[in-house]
Amino acid sequence: MTGKLKLARAAFAAVILVAASAGAVGTAQAAKSKPPAPIVGGTLASTAQTPWAIALNNTRSSDPYDQYCGATLVKANKIVTAAHCVTQAISTYTAVQGRDDLRTTAGKTSKISKIWKDPLYGVQAGHDVAVLTLTTPFTGVATLPLETSTAADVVGAQATVYGWGNTEGTGPSDRFQKVLTPGLGDAYCNQVYASEGYVANGEICAGYKEGGKDSCQGDSGGPLVLNGRLFGVVSWGIGCADAGNPGVYAEVATYASALTTQINN
Ligand code: ARG
Repeated sequence: MTGKLKLARAAFAAVILVAASAGAVGTAQAAKSKPPAPIVGGTLASTAQTPWAIALNNTRSSDPYDQYCGATLVKANKIVTAAHCVTQAISTYTAVQGRDDLRTTAGKTSKISKIWKDPLYGVQAGHDVAVLTLTTPFTGVATLPLETSTAADVVGAQATVYGWGNTEGTGPSDRFQKVLTPGLGDAYCNQVYASEGYVANGEICAGYKEGGKDSCQGDSGGPLVLNGRLFGVVSWGIGCADAGNPGVYAEVATYASALTTQINN
């Protein structure tokens, strides 16, 4: 990563911090993540293999290619993302499908016609989920089903996280990346994130106790995938890929019925 891009990332993180302090409901969790870092310690991925992986770009991002958050295509006209990713005006978002390198114009794009943010986000801990409706459906693109069983959240679950976020210098910027982040179990995050308010029944703790591989800033809202299902949504962490501070993901199974209602309407 070049110095310039590092600066852009730092500025992006600052925007998130400002947004959080401006009092937008529920943005406090974004502020927990210190700059910088999207997928850290990962490898290049291919949207041809994961067509449901969506880049949720935003014109208010300080990234030169508008990189902002991730999302997952769950129906031709519906994407799931994080509630803390939907604090900007609806007109500033663009969903991008099939673009491995955000410096290009590859793939399909759509504007957003409707935002549903979990109404309990910022009211209760957890609930960092949102469903967005696409103006132009990504017809014919494979979708990812939701995980509906909370029993999937076990230590050692072989989950992979995808995104275009910060690499903390471990890879190129604005390029689609993936990394295996095994489930660490609720007991571990209950312990390390006790003062941050980790919620076992609405969040997933994943990554490595020793650090090195993690999601990071800009990956928020993107998919944590287990057994071909949307298992988690990138939510927060303290720093990225640091020992003892794993990634925290919204637990899709916990919110599956509320999400399904929105996806089907
Ligand atoms: N809140 C961040 C974002 O808005 C995601 C942070 C994930 N952090 C982590 N250490 N896994 O992009």
